Amino acid sequence: MITTTDLTKVYRSRGREVTALDGVDLHVREGEVYGVVGQSGAGKSTLIRCVNLLERPSSGTVTVAGQDLTALAGRGRRAGSALRQARSRIGMVFQHFNLLSSRTVRDNVELPLEILGVSGKERTRKALELLDLVGLADKAKAYPAQLSGGQKQRVGIARALAGDPKVLLSDEATSALDPETTRSILQLLRDLNRQLGLTVLLITHEMDVVKTICDSAALMSDGRIVESGKVTDLLATPGSQLAQELFPVGGVPSAEDRTVVDVTFQGEAAAKPVISQLSRTYNIDISILGAAMDTVSGNQVGRMRIELPGPFEENVVPIGFLREQGLQVDVADVDASKTAVLKEGAK
Ligand SMILES: Nc1ncnc2c1ncn2[C@@H]1O[C@H](COP(=O)(O)OP(=O)(O)O)[C@@H](O)[C@H]1O
Ligand SMILES: [Mg+2]
Repeated sequence: MITTTDLTKVYRSRGREVTALDGVDLHVREGEVYGVVGQSGAGKSTLIRCVNLLERPSSGTVTVAGQDLTALAGRGRRAGSALRQARSRIGMVFQHFNLLSSRTVRDNVELPLEILGVSGKERTRKALELLDLVGLADKAKAYPAQLSGGQKQRVGIARALAGDPKVLLSDEATSALDPETTRSILQLLRDLNRQLGLTVLLITHEMDVVKTICDSAALMSDGRIVESGKVTDLLATPGSQLAQELFPVGGVPSAEDRTVVDVTFQGEAAAKPVISQLSRTYNIDISILGAAMDTVSGNQVGRMRIELPGPFEENVVPIGFLREQGLQVDVADVDASKTAVLKEGAK
């Protein structure tokens, strides 16, 4: 649904150049909720603004629903109207809501329809329908100042849906909200995703948001995507930084002649008493250094960092046992160069 190819954005201001995007290849499938995470300044907002051409990429292409927006943006005035049309099929939700304070809630939702030239009667019908969809049917005549933060964001979402978009972009939509309101807004986004088949690309700096609603995620750093994929696949990827941030298991090895492994449980495997079986079968003492359990998009997922006595070479068989139980096993070590070798050996 959304593809960017080798997307680059260089800002030039006061003789200085900032490379905000440095060759980004993003692939968002139709109907999924895709989260982009990363530290402040990583380029997340620039990426989302480039996806709907609010920001003109320096190079590379953006394709949404099969349409090359960068090609439209590059051509003359007629293409400009085609770009506006294509853009109306991409809704955008902002952190600070960006509502017009002088307009009622209903008039705020009608605004994009006015711009599209939809008749007054039809605009009103559509706005009321959307306000009902986001649970604000009774606030049509209120002004933004009379609403809570969560209600304002619901108006922002209704407005974003006015053009019947196939894609919804959200830049930190819940960052200005308290945890409970955040949950209800995330639930709304998830419901819209399911009910309308809406593809959602969202930016967040909160890992909880990814855990709660994202099917896929990408980690950005210095204008690049350093990791991406389905969240469940990332959790099963040895050494995944995103997995570690989603489920920090902590703990460091206590001695040299020990083997530390990260074990990821998903689905049925989570219910089996594998650690006690491992201990009994091989007659070894196992220390649990850290563990985390959570649900990702409704699926139970657990990660555990355990320590086995002896170096890696002596633990090949127990590690094989864990893998046979359907668990993802990632051999870890504090020494990075050693880790690489161990991982090779573990394959
Ligand atoms: N309009 C702009 N002009 C110049 N530099 C910008 C502009 N917008 C963002 N940047 C710079 O681009 C980089 C990425 O910013 P941004 O996309 O906002 O990151 P994020 O959303 O991940 O915090 C930062 O170094 C930021 O200072
Ligand atoms: Mg940002």
